[in-house]
Amino acid sequence: MAIEVKRLSVPAPAKINLFLHVGDRRDDGYHALQSLVGFAETGDALELSPARELKLLIEGPFAGALEAGGDNLVLKAARALTAHAGIAGGAAITLTKNLPVASGIGGGSADAAAALRGLAGLWGLKLPQDELRAVAAGLGSDVPVCVSSGAQWMEGRGERLTALDPLPAMAMVLINPGVSVATPKVFAALGARHGTGLPPPPQFAGAASLVAYLKDTANDLEAPARAIAPVIGEVLALLASQPGARLARMSGSGATCFALFDGDDDATAAARAIGEAHPQWWAVTTRIASFAA
Ligand code: C5P
Repeated sequence: MAIEVKRLSVPAPAKINLFLHVGDRRDDGYHALQSLVGFAETGDALELSPARELKLLIEGPFAGALEAGGDNLVLKAARALTAHAGIAGGAAITLTKNLPVASGIGGGSADAAAALRGLAGLWGLKLPQDELRAVAAGLGSDVPVCVSSGAQWMEGRGERLTALDPLPAMAMVLINPGVSVATPKVFAALGARHGTGLPPPPQFAGAASLVAYLKDTANDLEAPARAIAPVIGEVLALLASQPGARLARMSGSGATCFALFDGDDDATAAARAIGEAHPQWWAVTTRIASFAA
């Protein structure tokens, strides 16, 4: 009789800060934030199967940039979950690293959150999302928002989350110029900022209302990140100049930037043009994922 081996595939979509406003530095050293977070249809992927011990194999285009050792956020997530649940769970995890590392689109955070979701399933732990988010918060400010991959309103240091209606599935181009900027350095170089006084975003009737809303917002980390890595300014100018681009902005603490387009054809043409002009840059066409949180 064939033995069925349980195998789980868990997507880890790229996180996009459609805007990111920063407030004051808190007593714990973190900054208060407000961010409209959406996810892309592209991302990393995890595959999990039962095993006696915890094992991690990393493959894919950006595998070379990561260590599979104990410091890897996926293994940290697995250990945090075993500690939380009081179990000694093992698993063989394969992480396909499609996203550039340390690049403002939450690759490592999305991987850690996907590991929490996947391992909870593999180990039969019936944990409510809030409990998974509490475990996630111990792993990094961006991990809780990645526990569900729906649009969310993010506040606090990143742990106060409100689920939003699905966003318009706009076409999107992601560009990373191959520089990594350290998040603490970007926060440390912060100058002018918008603060955290906005009410939660409205429901968006379509692409035009989303873009109009975003135009009144910004990524406060863009200026300090550009000061550290001026190539980010070049990426933004190039994205903004593409036919059909409605908005170009940096995500997170950079260096990945995104542009939103009304149509897939314009987005595809933009990614191709930028990719041809800068073959060493990472250029991807995707969409804002429109699933619910
Ligand atoms: O939580 P995480 O490890 O991702 O944060 C990395 C760094 O980013 C922190 O050490 C801090 O310097 C900065 N940060 C911040 N305020 C936040 C999130 C991150 O100052 N809300």
